[in-house]
Amino acid sequence: MNAEQVKQLLGRTVAERFVQSGMKLGLGTGSTAVWAIRRIGELLHDGSVDNIVAVATSSQSEVEAHAAGIALRTMNDPEIAGGLDLTIDGADEVDLCGNLTKGGGGALLIEKVVAYASRRVVIIVGQDKLVDHLGLKFPIPVEVVPLARMPVISALEKLGCAVSLRMAVKKMGAVITDNGNIILDVSLPAPTDIAGFERELNTIPGVVENGVFARLSAEIWYGTADGQVLQFAPER
Ligand code: 5RP
Repeated sequence: MNAEQVKQLLGRTVAERFVQSGMKLGLGTGSTAVWAIRRIGELLHDGSVDNIVAVATSSQSEVEAHAAGIALRTMNDPEIAGGLDLTIDGADEVDLCGNLTKGGGGALLIEKVVAYASRRVVIIVGQDKLVDHLGLKFPIPVEVVPLARMPVISALEKLGCAVSLRMAVKKMGAVITDNGNIILDVSLPAPTDIAGFERELNTIPGVVENGVFARLSAEIWYGTADGQVLQFAPER
């Protein structure tokens, strides 16, 4: 199977396995989570499940949910009341302890809000995303208010990180998130206490949120090139 087929298999498999009628769902973002959204739409359409409402984590998942016929609410809607039954989302990296980085698609802030408000979180990734240490190969995205770009870059560089401003494609200038902020992609110089780093990042004035999910208790499922969908067992 190629990488796209693995993503499709993962999304479809977890939607079929975990989504049940009456659930309040969080809809993740990215090229893997999108397959779960599409499958949920099919399950609704053929009557396998009903009475589903969902919260989108990005403009991408909102558009996909509309196309799939999934009824959307906000986290503040009385029907959701701040809590979800299940969120299905992707990730950029997963370490040996099951810590994640997210935000490759720039949706980390709402993804974090939605994930931590969910009773159950299912993360789906290709096997290539299982790594020994986070932030060495794939940079950690940090969402920053635009006026704080330079002070935050200085603070991150003082921590020894390499920082780059995420630039847009098909638009000149920086990526602007769904929340009107910029993204700094931050590479670590060496393996680090990732939970401590997650906390430290959010103490820098101007940082809105970062893409480390170190305290999230999620089930992680990964797909292999030979077409298996397997549960990852973290070393806790
Ligand atoms: C978006 C995310 C995505 O879930 C993450 O980047 C993985 O995306 P993909 O499945 O396309 O590799 O965090 O902000």
